[in-house]
Amino acid sequence: MRTLVAYYSHTGNNRYLAQQLARDLEADIEPIRPRLNVFPFLILSSWLHVTFGIRKPLHAIAAYDSVVLVGPIWMGNLITPLRSFLNKHGKKIKVLYFATCCGGGDDQKDDKFGYAGVFRKVERYAGRPPAYCEAFPIKLVVPEDEQDDDEAMMKARLTDETFKGPIVDRYNAFLSRIKNRS
Ligand SMILES: Cc1cc2nc3c(=O)[nH]c(=O)nc-3n(C[C@H](O)[C@H](O)[C@H](O)COP(=O)(O)O)c2cc1C
Repeated sequence: MRTLVAYYSHTGNNRYLAQQLARDLEADIEPIRPRLNVFPFLILSSWLHVTFGIRKPLHAIAAYDSVVLVGPIWMGNLITPLRSFLNKHGKKIKVLYFATCCGGGDDQKDDKFGYAGVFRKVERYAGRPPAYCEAFPIKLVVPEDEQDDDEAMMKARLTDETFKGPIVDRYNAFLSRIKNRS
């Protein structure tokens, strides 16, 4: 069973998540590389649904039994690099999983910028329902008394120090789903 973890990350949270997944699934890892990797452009293009595309992957997507797509949410969108990846390579993916380390928590998942809407967009761009989607809100690693502090939330990072407690429980459950399907 060969798995590829393909990810995009701007500030490192989703890179950390992707690296953990690749290690625990003994998977290869593919950084999704936008042709124009300029943050304001990527935000705008995610919102306006335009793109200059992504560079050719370093791995042959069709050679894998499953792909775990990982990346952040910006303004309720499936961000341009992830969308481009699905547009270009979605048909070659045999079994697709999606994971995001996002800002909004479970209590906001159905809001305009929440992750539930992004899960539906993954399905739309993949052309079929993914095997499973999971969100790892950064809130899970922020102390309760700091969760109303927007700055603390934006500064929170997944690291070996912060990756513990409830986020690890959720992560292990996600891993089990992938492994048990194998
Ligand atoms: C411009 C911008 C917009 C964002 N919009 C959302 C959003 O709509 N919903 C959400 O859950 N998180 C949102 N976030 C939070 C990111 O998804 C979160 O910080 C994520 O962990 C960043 O991932 P990265 O470190 O891999 O880049 C936003 C962050 C930025 C910078």
